[in-house]
Order: sequence, then C-alpha cells, then structure tokens
Amino acid sequence: MISTKSERELVLMKEAGRIVALTHEAIKNAIRPGITTKELDQIAYEVITSHDATPSFKGYYGYPGSICASINDVLVHGIPDNTQLKDGDIISIDIGACYKGYHGDSAWTYVVGQVDEKTLDLMEVTKQSLFEGLKQAKPGNRIGDISHAIGEHVHAHGYTVPMDYTGHGVGSKLHEDPVIPNYGPAGRGVILKEGMTLAVEPMVHMGKPQTKTMSDGWTVKTKDGSLCAHYEHSIVITKDGYEILTKIPELEVTNG
Ligand code: MF3
Ligand code: CO
Repeated sequence: MISTKSERELVLMKEAGRIVALTHEAIKNAIRPGITTKELDQIAYEVITSHDATPSFKGYYGYPGSICASINDVLVHGIPDNTQLKDGDIISIDIGACYKGYHGDSAWTYVVGQVDEKTLDLMEVTKQSLFEGLKQAKPGNRIGDISHAIGEHVHAHGYTVPMDYTGHGVGSKLHEDPVIPNYGPAGRGVILKEGMTLAVEPMVHMGKPQTKTMSDGWTVKTKDGSLCAHYEHSIVITKDGYEILTKIPELEVTNG
C-alpha cells in the first residue's frame, strides 16, 4: 500500500527533512583527515537530538549507529568506529531523523581533503543521476520513469548500478512502499500521485555492479573493491513535480 500524506503529515516530514539537512551541514563541516567516523556519528546524534528528533537508523534491526559512514569501496551501512578519515578518501554519509513520528532520509558523498579527477567524476555522475531521476518525479509518471532516468545516466557514463539496493517510500516508517530501483525500463510500476513521499537514492559503482556484505552483517562493499558513491533525497510529489524535503529551506543548495 502506498500512502499519500496529509498537509499535517507533510509539515512534520519537512521538519524531519530539515533536521537531516542541518545534520549533513554539521558533518560536512567536520569532515577532515584524522577525524573518526565515530566522532561524526556523535556530532549527528547531538544535532538530531537537540532538535527534538531521534536518529532513525539507531536500533533499526539492531543497527548500532546514528548514521551510516561508508568509506571508499563501502557502498552502504558502514558502521561508525575508530577509523580515521585520510586525505583522498571519499565518504558517503547516510542520515535519518524521526520527528514526531515522521522520517527524513538523505545520503551524500563527501571528499576528504583532495581527491583525483576520476573520483570527482564518479561523484558528479551519481549526484546528477539523482536529479535526472527527480526530473521524472511528477503526478502521472511512473516509478519506472525515475528508475530508468537514473540507470540511463549512470550507464551512459560507463559506471554501474548495484541491483540489490534501492530507494523506497518514506513516512511514518523509514522504509515504505514502493521500492524504487535505480535502473530498469521506463513506463512501468506504480503511478505517482500528489502527496506520495519517496526517498530516491542512486548508488553507483566505478567498476562491476556486484556487492558483498562483511561479517559484521551490515557493511556492504563493492565486490571488486572499486569506488562507489551514494546520493539520496526524500521528496514529496506535488501538483506538478516534486519538492525536496531533506533541505534547509532558507538555503538554495542542499548538502554538498
Ligand atoms: N538510509 C538507509 C536507506 O536509505 C537505511 C539505513 S539502514 C540502517 O535505506 F539500518 F542502517 F538504518
Ligand atoms: Co533511504
């Protein structure tokens, strides 16, 4: 079942999204060589809880962190620990916040110090694929139109999409229907309606699309060790398009 949200629910989701975006700002400003992912997790916990919200991921199926912090060839679900960031790393930070029962969910990939051109290209293509997908987010279009636009953009640049991780509906649960693949044919799937709230989240590999899960049961890496990137926004479908929920309304640009 895919829910559409009421005005009252959307007010709460916008606040949850704003808190997620504020947390991204704080993390972006803290990222530097030498800081540990645990320290970033602590910053996120403080920002989220100081805004009357709770970290959506903490305790979700037993997940121990407030954020996911996924370095280089870690695709998703990197658990914050004592690993120090190094110059030349990239790190995908995934943040969820729950405000008065409603979730916001957004991921962004950040550079640590200086990275090479190839890495910047992977990041740029992944970020752009999110916005290519979002261009298709409007009433009357289908989920497959979003998926197709993402996959086409990624493949046109010679990168790949892991097939086993997807975007999703978001709302009073972190993960709601529908599933939003990052590839596939246009014109298929659920028809989008005003008031649906979706987390669109392309994940992209520089090399082959296969993944492997580490023995901690969480950390997912590219199987071939290639770099990967991840960008995600929570959105609401509006009368004629979409609005990003995981933003700071007074800022033009969100996150990175
Ligand atoms: N943000 C992830 C997603 O977009 C969920 C993190 S899973 C958790 O689906 F268990 F780590 F919370
Ligand atoms: Co998500």
